[in-house]
Amino acid sequence: MSDPVETSRAQFDRQAACYGRAHILRDVSDVAAALDGFDAARLSPALDVATGAGHTAAYLAERGVAVTAADISEGMLEEVRKLAVERGLDISTRQHAAESLPYADTSFRLVTCRVAAHHFASVEGFLREAFRVLRPGGLLLVIDGASPEGAPVAEKWLQGVEKLRDPSHGRFLRSSEWRKLAEQIGFEVLRGDCLPFKQPDLEWYFHTAGTPEATRSEVRQMVVQAPAEVRRVLGLAEEEGKVVWWWPRLTFLGQRPEVAKTASQT
Ligand SMILES: C[S@@+](CC[C@H](N)C(=O)[O-])C[C@H]1O[C@@H](n2cnc3c(N)ncnc32)[C@H](O)[C@@H]1O
Repeated sequence: MSDPVETSRAQFDRQAACYGRAHILRDVSDVAAALDGFDAARLSPALDVATGAGHTAAYLAERGVAVTAADISEGMLEEVRKLAVERGLDISTRQHAAESLPYADTSFRLVTCRVAAHHFASVEGFLREAFRVLRPGGLLLVIDGASPEGAPVAEKWLQGVEKLRDPSHGRFLRSSEWRKLAEQIGFEVLRGDCLPFKQPDLEWYFHTAGTPEATRSEVRQMVVQAPAEVRRVLGLAEEEGKVVWWWPRLTFLGQRPEVAKTASQT
């Protein structure tokens, strides 16, 4: 069986150039909204896990947060360094997997991870590591696609499309799964809500992942044959000749408690 971390590394090394300026992830208003009200001192130093082309890390650096941008793909880290030079930002880069963070305990005040956890070999492993490297009172912000709650047909369709489009996709967890896992590890959940996020063009989405033509045809078939639940829950439709749909997008904000819980409190 292929190693999911290696599959992601190969996929993103190949596609790194597609995640820069023209990518929808360049719009970091989701991160800005989630961290509104926290000043730079409260968030510094920060670790941006699976940073991709560095859009989240650049946003933090622009706010005056000392940030390390980490990713498994050296191709992506090269994009981060280019972005930092272009925007005159100071961003350190490190290459490593999300599931094994090479930092001492309590190194950071903020860990971010945006639109990446669905690739991870182990979300639980990542959460445990994030908890370990956060200081007491430190924050974890995860933004990611999520599976809809109570809609198994739409969940299966979404999972099938994502996996065909990009084999390094693992799974979108439901927001209830994020909450449960995070609480088990010890996080206090400050928020864990989903809002719809538009995927504006299936063909562009294929392009960013380098999806082979045969697989694109399979996905187009799935779109044509999509059950009513998929159209209703995911808003799958055609707009001006483009296939669009709406991901449930999770914003999860957790905090490592200031004081560790004792065994009787857990
Ligand atoms: C869509 S991009 C991330 C976007 C970015 N966070 C942003 O805000 O623009 C997904 C990234 O996850 C990285 N990735 C996937 N699996 C990983 C893993 N197990 N550990 C670390 N990085 C991983 C990929 O290399 C890729 O750069």
